[in-house]
Amino acid sequence: MALRKILTQGDPALTKTCRPVEKFDRKLHDLLDDMKETLQNAGGVGLAAPQVGILRRVVVVEDAEERMIELVNPVIVSQSGEQKGWEGCLSVPNQYGWVDRPSVVTVRAQDRDGNFFETTGEELVARCFCHEVEHLDGHLFVEHTGELYSPEEIDAMEAAEEDGAKKRPRRKGRRR
Ligand code: NI
Repeated sequence: MALRKILTQGDPALTKTCRPVEKFDRKLHDLLDDMKETLQNAGGVGLAAPQVGILRRVVVVEDAEERMIELVNPVIVSQSGEQKGWEGCLSVPNQYGWVDRPSVVTVRAQDRDGNFFETTGEELVARCFCHEVEHLDGHLFVEHTGELYSPEEIDAMEAAEEDGAKKRPRRKGRRR
């Protein structure tokens, strides 16, 4: 296993449509292992292959129990509800935006050996599924929001709101 370099906004790899995985071989397994290690090392909750420069439809996401889910050729098959929250991305360091997402998302994908499965995520995991699948089509979360803020700016805004008696749960988006 090895850490891979995470590309940042401006790198052309982040704007490409990724190709489906067709070979479930050692190379794919190495990629998945490296992506999980890279994600853990970066302290994020999701990582897509184009973020490490590989233009294939491969994603890893941390689930609600902090286990890593490997998603090969993932497709969102259903979604419902709505959530609003801060969202960030390891490829857009130190910048967060307020992004609406569905609150429940079901993904159909293949595992590292090519077996199909479905998995459903809620809240942060649902947000992450949407965010990562968009990476595979060359899109970044910044396209969903007009304004980006640093963590310090978000803390200041939330502190000001709390002073004003308007209570909103403090929830800083974790990076993916
Ligand atoms: Ni991202």
